[in-house]
Amino acid sequence: MKALVYNGPGQKNLEEHPKPTVQMPTDAIVKITKTTICGTDLHILKGDVATCKPGTVLGHEGVGVVDSVGPGVTVFKPGDRVLISCITACGRCDYCRKGMYSHCTTGGWILGNRIDGTQAEFVRIPYADTSLYPIPQDADEEALVMLSDILPTGFECGVLNGKVQPGSTVAIVGSGPIGLAALLTAQLYSPSEIIMIDLDDNRLAVGKRFGATATINSTDGKAAEKVMKLTAGRGVDTAIEAVGIPATFELCTDIVAPGGTVANVGVHGVKADLHLETLWSHNITITTRLVDTVSTPMLLKTVQSKRINARQLITHHFKLSEILKAYDTFGKAADTKALKVIIEA
Ligand SMILES: NC(=O)c1ccc[n+]([C@@H]2O[C@H](COP(=O)([O-])OP(=O)(O)OC[C@H]3O[C@@H](n4cnc5c(N)ncnc54)[C@H](O)[C@@H]3O)[C@@H](O)[C@H]2O)c1
Ligand SMILES: [Zn+2]
Ligand SMILES: [Zn+2]
Repeated sequence: MKALVYNGPGQKNLEEHPKPTVQMPTDAIVKITKTTICGTDLHILKGDVATCKPGTVLGHEGVGVVDSVGPGVTVFKPGDRVLISCITACGRCDYCRKGMYSHCTTGGWILGNRIDGTQAEFVRIPYADTSLYPIPQDADEEALVMLSDILPTGFECGVLNGKVQPGSTVAIVGSGPIGLAALLTAQLYSPSEIIMIDLDDNRLAVGKRFGATATINSTDGKAAEKVMKLTAGRGVDTAIEAVGIPATFELCTDIVAPGGTVANVGVHGVKADLHLETLWSHNITITTRLVDTVSTPMLLKTVQSKRINARQLITHHFKLSEILKAYDTFGKAADTKALKVIIEA
């Protein structure tokens, strides 16, 4: 089969790769119909993710059709249309029992990282019963691809951890797919203000269209000042970090109001400063989280009922044979205005 293979930092190729087979009784083999590229795939290609070894098929998002199942799979059968979760969950270990699937002792984020991923014609899904979701009859499959990772990530790591509440004030630093997913799902809680902060005017315009009450281009280094102006000098109740660099984490700690929460979502490759000399008395909370995807069934309902318009995150379409072009387009988002690119296998 054809697959996008990581061949070491800076190197990827669309090449022939053995079709996966059932290895454990709880495995399913899924024929991919649609997949996409994540900012995290770019982190891997930069060499930031040591667990991903050369030779691995990338991708942790997608929808498809069950091709075959091991004898231990009871929920799914060949022919079923399924949504693939970026997090694999055994459903039985201590972490899974707490709903912390991201730390499943034999699963977690392994797809397109420790094991071959979804940017291929077929993928092996371990613990299929608890790592796949049935696709409802009338569902918009492309929109559901946004549920593999970005919507649960924005919601769980940003909105839930950030304790967004009716009438509260929110700032989201980073208006990429994850920041925008946080923006869409934050509105389920009716905060009074949602301020989007980014360097890219196009992405800020998208933020405005998706419901932001204000946008700030932080290129001039004055974002903190501007947030204070917008919030009568208080700062925001929730500051969501959706970039993954020290400057944006520090900006979040600069703009959080006393009693507020900094919810980190970004994947960080280097250390960031924590200014306890000013923060010690501010009664703030800082949270971190690897997405658990516990909210996927709930978010699926909000997408199905059109409470959340997930499709609007999709900007480009490619065939699997054009996946290198898709990476190029996604990697140059400032020029191409790409958010999520759909790749049809
Ligand atoms: N915690 C998790 O489980 C989890 C899951 C998925 C992704 N992530 C991480 O979330 C982060 C965001 O993902 P994404 O796909 O939206 O990434 P992205 O790269 O598409 O978006 C990041 C945005 O940040 C903006 N930005 C860059 N530098 C900035 C700065 N100094 N100030 C303000 N804005 C700046 C960029 O213009 C871009 O719009 C990444 O670090 C990704 O790896 C975390
Ligand atoms: Zn991802
Ligand atoms: Zn587990």
